[in-house]
Amino acid sequence: MAVVLGIETSCDETGVGIVSDGRLLGAALASSMEEHARFGGVVPEIAARAHLESLVPCVRAAFLQAGIGPSEIDAVAVTSGPGLATALQTGLAAAKAYALAWDRPLYGVHHLAGHVAADTLENGPLPPRSVALIVSGGHTSLLLLGDLARDPVVHLGDTRDDAAGEAFDKVARLLGLAYPGGPAVAEAARDGDPGAVVFPRAMLGTGYDFSFSGLKSAVARHVERARGTLAVPDVAASFQEAVADVLTRKAVEACLVNGVDTLVIVGGVAANRRLRDLAAERCRTAGLTLRIPPPSLCTDNGAMIAAVGDLLVASGAPPSSRHLTADPSAPLSRAHLDPAGAG
Ligand code: KG4
Ligand code: ZN
Repeated sequence: MAVVLGIETSCDETGVGIVSDGRLLGAALASSMEEHARFGGVVPEIAARAHLESLVPCVRAAFLQAGIGPSEIDAVAVTSGPGLATALQTGLAAAKAYALAWDRPLYGVHHLAGHVAADTLENGPLPPRSVALIVSGGHTSLLLLGDLARDPVVHLGDTRDDAAGEAFDKVARLLGLAYPGGPAVAEAARDGDPGAVVFPRAMLGTGYDFSFSGLKSAVARHVERARGTLAVPDVAASFQEAVADVLTRKAVEACLVNGVDTLVIVGGVAANRRLRDLAAERCRTAGLTLRIPPPSLCTDNGAMIAAVGDLLVASGAPPSSRHLTADPSAPLSRAHLDPAGAG
């Protein structure tokens, strides 16, 4: 069985994971999130410098946890896109250096395919067909999946404006909550009434694309009108309900219409308790199998990239070329980026 080291540096988390045969052997994570908090969002140069400082210690920590050494690594996988250019380049340079020094193949991996593969570490191999709802800080997509390592990814729908996580982050700012907004809004919502404010459910009944900027504007208008009487928990809970409602309704419908019986929900927003509960309820009613990784594997990490590398090696995919470059806006059409010989 191949042992794959994965490196993730697309945003503010430095993630390293070691995976073999679908099993996580060791992982380490460092975050520069606190350094960005006072700017209200990720500052690329700060993130890149933090990756530089954290990468080698994270690789060491992952080896320590796995109880193995570099000589036991068969391949190196790295996020080569999408993400922040300088942040991606830092991880890519490190991955290339390790691959070269250890004389091992290098696999460039699409970050979002990594989010999907994270689920296999917890719930085993994916069925031959599934629908994936990816909800992260930068992306919101409904995908029709076959074999993640071999088949092209079919986009059923994408967001037309803000991503779901971005909407959480922006609404947190409107409500005076901390960055990153997702966990802060979820925490505030615990004491709120999800039915207190009826926010719009954009684009329901119009296919599988999403739009969250109207919802964000509706929250902004509500905040402005409420002024001194603003009930933050109620607004947070009502906003969260609107997001979870639209996401789960469209995802369940996509499964039923496409004759797929498994829904996978991944990405940072999949850590959201209300989204998880509502998805479970609606999948049960619709007779669908729901797969969601534990919260620690929903947000960015290195294990998910190693998991894709592991699938690629097992499928016999050719490694990426040594000229693999970072692609900050790589579209998700395949899990594997820049395989050698693909032109
Ligand atoms: O997948 P991820 O870690 O990074 C990207 O690839 O973007 O997702 C980060 C996003 C952020 O927008 C964050 O606010 C959101 O996921 N998030 C959450 C929760 N935890 C993280 N959103 C809602 N509820 C949460 N519990
Ligand atoms: Zn991510």
